[in-house]
Amino acid sequence: MSKHTTRTFPSDFTWGSATAAYQIEGAAREGGRGPSIWDTYSHTPGRTLNGDTGDVADDHYHRWQEDIAHMKELVLDAYRFSISWPRVQPGGRGEFNPEGIAFYQQLVAGLLEAGIKPVVTLYHWDLPQELEDEGGWTNRETAYLFAEYARKMAQELGSDIDVWTTLNEPWCSAYLGYASGVHAPGRTEPLAALQAVHHLNLAHGLAGRAIREVLGESTKVSITLNLHVTRMLDPENAGDRDALRRIDGVANRVFLQPLLEGAYPADVMQDTAGITDWSFVLEGDTDLIHIPLDVLGVNYYSTGMVREATEGQGGSDNDGHGNSSHSPWVGSEHVEWVKMPGPYTAMGWNIDPAGMTELLVSLRDSYPQQPLMVTENGAAFYDTVTDDGRVHDVERVAYLHDHIAAVLDAREAGVDVRGYFAWSLLDNFEWGWGYDRRFGIIRVDYETLERIWKDSAFWYRTLARTNVLPAPDAVEYVEQPTAG
Ligand code: FCB
Repeated sequence: MSKHTTRTFPSDFTWGSATAAYQIEGAAREGGRGPSIWDTYSHTPGRTLNGDTGDVADDHYHRWQEDIAHMKELVLDAYRFSISWPRVQPGGRGEFNPEGIAFYQQLVAGLLEAGIKPVVTLYHWDLPQELEDEGGWTNRETAYLFAEYARKMAQELGSDIDVWTTLNEPWCSAYLGYASGVHAPGRTEPLAALQAVHHLNLAHGLAGRAIREVLGESTKVSITLNLHVTRMLDPENAGDRDALRRIDGVANRVFLQPLLEGAYPADVMQDTAGITDWSFVLEGDTDLIHIPLDVLGVNYYSTGMVREATEGQGGSDNDGHGNSSHSPWVGSEHVEWVKMPGPYTAMGWNIDPAGMTELLVSLRDSYPQQPLMVTENGAAFYDTVTDDGRVHDVERVAYLHDHIAAVLDAREAGVDVRGYFAWSLLDNFEWGWGYDRRFGIIRVDYETLERIWKDSAFWYRTLARTNVLPAPDAVEYVEQPTAG
């Protein structure tokens, strides 16, 4: 028996699970869908592990009913999914695609019927390729086109949506997409990355305003950020303190400050003065970006540590998503990353539940009035199916247990964190890592597309059902839905 005291969440705490369109839907050339930057990128030789693409993925486009049955059996309160912009508006401007819109309407109707609240993300990285051809997020017009797409979705899906999340992790879109190039569109231009940062922030503000124009001021609007919990090697060392300030600036404050305070951090503008004078921020933009957020979505996986760069070591490529000869850390040439101690997940990310509490508490300290929601947390491990036909993913259960306990620690410290979404419902296309890295609480057999619950799913079900944190070894098996 493990030593365990009863820890309880309030009954209105939201238990959910999350996915993203390109990672699960497949049907890449069906139903009138246009190509996105991730189709182009994944089909470019050498870009993804084993040349994997999202062409088929989990075939969720055809199996959504079965997937809702799994969610229902998991007793989830909410499901966080993303809408594929090129599925509903193939070229990113002009004509909308009724077949694509109908897909999401039936998905939402199915969720409501199952008693599951739909939490929508409008942009989880799959920009219509035609917009990238015109500059993508370096082009200011993309922000305005995004707001038009958001307006249309508000008209079509209306008040059935519980929370409208504009963007998922704009840090990744901007810096991994345009500076380090390890994500689509694979560009490696520091200036482009900073333009993307601003146009993504602007897109959020414009889209949030458009949604509330259609559905009313009380419509819940959110954004999900992957804030970086970074520590410094030696707090006594001024150079290490400066390294931390720089990373916190380009990773966190360049989003948080315009979104929640209506201004860009002056020190970040100074750090990046050699790249740009930020003249792409026009008069009035920061006011447009600064809209009330009903909840701030927080994705958390691991932590990092920095120090002042030693001779010839600057511009580290440690982006947490693999190696690149280009750094995502624009304007941080004086920073060196220190390898974190293990244990690690299959991503090579260190496991550090205390970082979850630290992040939530520090957000509360900076923005005491802002409600929070953990919109992603989870872990990849190399799972195996054992002879009993099960996946005893002991490490994933431990990871979830310890991080959910850390959320509870934050709540007990007075942080207003209202929900938790496990990443991910299903094993899926993990971007540059293809199908090699499995994050699901439900396993997907990529040959047959069969779904099998891992022990983590059974464990999570007990938590969602009871609001009491089960001991990591308390896996209660139940019958799971089967296809058809
Ligand atoms: C996050 C992404 C999500 C998934 C997890 C592992 O950065 O939002 O799509 O890839 O990491």
